[in-house]
Amino acid sequence: MRTQIVAGNWKMNCNLDESQHLLNALKQKDFSKADVEVVVAPPYTNLYAAHQSLKDSSIKISSQNINENEKGAFTGEVSPDMLKSVGVEYVIIGHSERRAIYAESDELLAKKVTAALKHDLKIMFCIGEVLEQRKADKHFEVVKEQLEKGLFHIGASDMKNVVIAYEPVWAIGTGETASPEQAQEIHEHIRKVLADKYNADVAEQTSILYGGSVKPNNAKEIFAKKDVDGGLIGGASLDADSFAEIVMSF
Ligand code: PGA
Repeated sequence: MRTQIVAGNWKMNCNLDESQHLLNALKQKDFSKADVEVVVAPPYTNLYAAHQSLKDSSIKISSQNINENEKGAFTGEVSPDMLKSVGVEYVIIGHSERRAIYAESDELLAKKVTAALKHDLKIMFCIGEVLEQRKADKHFEVVKEQLEKGLFHIGASDMKNVVIAYEPVWAIGTGETASPEQAQEIHEHIRKVLADKYNADVAEQTSILYGGSVKPNNAKEIFAKKDVDGGLIGGASLDADSFAEIVMSF
């Protein structure tokens, strides 16, 4: 049985007060009825306080990024060990905003993956095509290549610490979502790519999340698809009620 996960990617939103406020609101929610692991990814500056505040909660903490080096002269960067030391359990690697705005290449992402695993951090590895690639019917190829270049240097045993997030770039923050059928079709493809690279067990056990304008009104339909194991939620994760409703869609 795969772990079902709903993760909130707060992006560059919430100062410390706002972050604590949102976490307090989330802690009031009873997620125990949903068979789901709930994860939040606040900005770096709020991670330690989030860890403190979530100590008695089952909600897990993710960072939104990681540096691939151990330590040293990398001004402005945050190392795997630093993340670990403030209670981070997951790291998001390869979000399309990092790929597009900060020009993070597949080669760099591969190094981040290695660094995260070395420090026992779990990974949410993001892949997804842009609109032109979808229109040209290249999305199957694109996600395969992103997996091959950014993730497939790791061995099958490390895959138990990896979650894949399929996020079509044209659906992120746009209000447009992939239809449940489109999501299912590409998730099934991703699982097949995993089976071909590793084995059927890895493919069967790896959680594949969908991301891109998931809201309370569409989560249920998308999560109902057999190869969709949860969601990576941006905008709707900034509102405790919306996020909770999405979690409870399972
Ligand atoms: P969105 O963002 O839900 O606001 O579309 C998803 C993401 O970027 O992870």
